[in-house]
Amino acid sequence: MQRVFSGIQPSGTMTIGNYLGAMKNFVRLQDEADCVFCIVDLHAITVPQDPEQLKQNTRSLAALYLAAGINPDKSTLFVQSHVPGHAELGWMLQCVAYYGELGRMTQFKDKSSKKSVVTAGLYTYPALMAADILLYQTDLVPVGEDQKQHLELTRNIAERFNRQYGDAFTIPDPYIPKIGGRIMSLDDPAKKMSKSDENINAFVSMLDSPSVIRKKISRAVTDSEREVRYDPEHKSAISNLLTIYSLFADKSINDLEQQYRGAGYGPFKKELAEVVVDKLAPIQERYQELLNSTELDAILKLGAERAREKSSATLRDVKEKFGFIL
Ligand code: AQP
Repeated sequence: MQRVFSGIQPSGTMTIGNYLGAMKNFVRLQDEADCVFCIVDLHAITVPQDPEQLKQNTRSLAALYLAAGINPDKSTLFVQSHVPGHAELGWMLQCVAYYGELGRMTQFKDKSSKKSVVTAGLYTYPALMAADILLYQTDLVPVGEDQKQHLELTRNIAERFNRQYGDAFTIPDPYIPKIGGRIMSLDDPAKKMSKSDENINAFVSMLDSPSVIRKKISRAVTDSEREVRYDPEHKSAISNLLTIYSLFADKSINDLEQQYRGAGYGPFKKELAEVVVDKLAPIQERYQELLNSTELDAILKLGAERAREKSSATLRDVKEKFGFIL
């Protein structure tokens, strides 16, 4: 059975971008692979977080994983900081990664360019992400397109370690959806939709109320034409909305273009909002039940135990190969 690993940062409330780009595949893969899913709180603190908010976001994300369909009997779900092996291997892989290659990461360039203070952790983030993945002898990593470069780096780090110290790591492959791998901002279709965007109208969060979803979609930028046509190069905003519609409604983009031929953007946006509201409603309902249950904490506790078990042999092997006294 293949091993799958992925994570999401509790750096805000998950957006429909995180859902369509990553979470939807997590749910699908758990029926065919041994899946390990993580709430990567150590990654979230690479930029400042309010401690109370981080706690809330971590529980909230755990409840959303489950509400979206992650089954704790099939998958291992845990919080990254509950398994110290992540930070340990993260440090070791910082000593395998090169300073220059970390500096070439576009996510670092993007995130650091907007900050007056840039932490060392933001710079070394990809080495920790490599550790997350490599600890579990992962074959497949379901992620959105923005993580492709980090995955490449993970592969390079793993190959370098295996070559220098002897085989310890499986070389993982990315698993990126052909459609929905990069959902764009509703406010600026040249930018990726992000949960930490300062403009809350740039994203639809998984927990937005129906009225907020309707408002955000009706305000989403379009273009000066009125033709609902998929053309990412010239009509990036409408193409992004068509992608979201297609994935939530399970209809092809072609069928949607036919359906809205000559209708203009108004009815298209209105019906898209209803599709999103309908898809999120059962997830939100289940989320509310889970958030206030003790079941959630028990699932995370068991998940951390299982994750420790699944990762301990690799951690030990790597330490041995580095020459640490065990
Ligand atoms: N816009 C997106 N479209 C498709 N997939 C996306 N992902 C993120 N944004 C999109 C995928 O979601 C998973 C979890 O992402 P993350 O929380 O680990 O970090 P991120 O990629 O930095 O996501 P955000 O929403 O942009 O978070 P912030 O604002 O905190 O930086 C990943 O698989 C990611 O590819």
